[in-house]
Amino acid sequence: MTGGIDRPWGGRFESEQDPLFERLHASIPFDNVLAPFDIVGSRAHVRMLADIGVLSDDERDQILTGLAQIAREVQTGVFVWTLADEDVHMAIERRLIEIVGSVGGKMHTGRSRNDQVILDLHLYLRDAVAGHQKRVGRLMGTLLNKAEDGKNMVMPGYTHMQRAQPVLLAHHLLAYFFALERDWQRLQEWTGCSWMPLGAGALAGVNYPLDRESVAAELGFDRVAPNAMDAVAARDAAFSYLSITTNCALTLSRLAGEMVLWSTQEYGLASLPESWTSGSSIMPQKRNPDGAELVRAKAAGFLARLQGLGAVLKGLPLAYNSDLQEDKPYVFACKEDFDLCLEAMTAMVGGLVFDAERARVAAEGGYAQATDVADYLAGKGLPFREAHRTAGRLVGILARDGRPLSSVSIEELRQLSPLFAEDYYSVVDLDRVVAAKVSPGGTAPQRVAEQLALARERLDHVAAETGF
Ligand code: ARG
Repeated sequence: MTGGIDRPWGGRFESEQDPLFERLHASIPFDNVLAPFDIVGSRAHVRMLADIGVLSDDERDQILTGLAQIAREVQTGVFVWTLADEDVHMAIERRLIEIVGSVGGKMHTGRSRNDQVILDLHLYLRDAVAGHQKRVGRLMGTLLNKAEDGKNMVMPGYTHMQRAQPVLLAHHLLAYFFALERDWQRLQEWTGCSWMPLGAGALAGVNYPLDRESVAAELGFDRVAPNAMDAVAARDAAFSYLSITTNCALTLSRLAGEMVLWSTQEYGLASLPESWTSGSSIMPQKRNPDGAELVRAKAAGFLARLQGLGAVLKGLPLAYNSDLQEDKPYVFACKEDFDLCLEAMTAMVGGLVFDAERARVAAEGGYAQATDVADYLAGKGLPFREAHRTAGRLVGILARDGRPLSSVSIEELRQLSPLFAEDYYSVVDLDRVVAAKVSPGGTAPQRVAEQLALARERLDHVAAETGF
């Protein structure tokens, strides 16, 4: 290198970088995960440069051979990452020149790191989303199997964390199945990175008649970014990726939160597999649901990262600014956490053991049939509002001694309303209460059977589309 400091861009510089600036500036510690995608993008770029006559076939082949060696070095972990390379793009170019000589310096013709980095990120995100979809699909399958096992189990359904109305376990688990199906669909519809940015150069396009369409086709993009400034400045694909995964992380967090509750001694509705719980360093009796607690908490990180990237982008002028380098820690952490949470939830849900006996007692003990008593009186002509009050008074009387609705005598009932008759006892039978919820989407067994069948159909679709 003649003149300037020893950096690829160092021609106009005389002083060395402050080591502290080097640390602040370098993205190598995190963006090295882009290496496989950077290499794929460079291959397509180099082939296209040869096709339009900017590189000779021999130059192209030398560069491709060097890139293949680098891919192996990265894969086997022998590639040397150093802060001095600044970022993944320059590390690969530096190594290429070491391997193939100065011809390696031709790879960056007609390209800027600004369009290169967003290409890499798009390739990374596409790959990440495909992996997430498989994992969401597996979790949906596990939930559906559990729901099928629980199609006869009656448990309390809750509102305000008070026992509200009895439901089938299948009904409760299917609520999560369908929420996850929407999460899966959002991932499926995420077309945030369907456009190919390479060829935008730094912001203005480049001085070569690039064949961007052929690069897009080789890399599997639907279309070429139509505006060079937008191509290098946009990070909406990353933002919507964080938003979609956050939505799903919230679904997981709510399910994990319920698993924590279900496994308490107070609820006692389910126990988590021992291999997903831990003990206490002081209290020998403890078996803590740490796995579920941590998935519950992980959603906070998703929300924070979404907010973080939004804050980076807010008010940022076009086109590229170094601020955009800070998109990557959010995205990479999101991918790791999301895969981990999905796999953990699949294992924990698969290992949940429900206590049908206790769930039934809980549903019975919580006066969860009281709405049905009100409906019973309303069916005999009492306005629902009065029926509600009478059923409430009945619950109030029984609750003083902790007696269930089925224990009341007909005489006691008649003191409250002359409309009560012997058929009252079949109305408060738990199974009948559940069976009476016949509106579509309700918890009556035949309605739940319909939901199970629909869920199986949707899962088959997810499996076919996602290939897991
Ligand atoms: N490491 C940079 C990033 O992650 C790559 C683009 C750098 N471009 C530049 N002009 N400094 O955003």
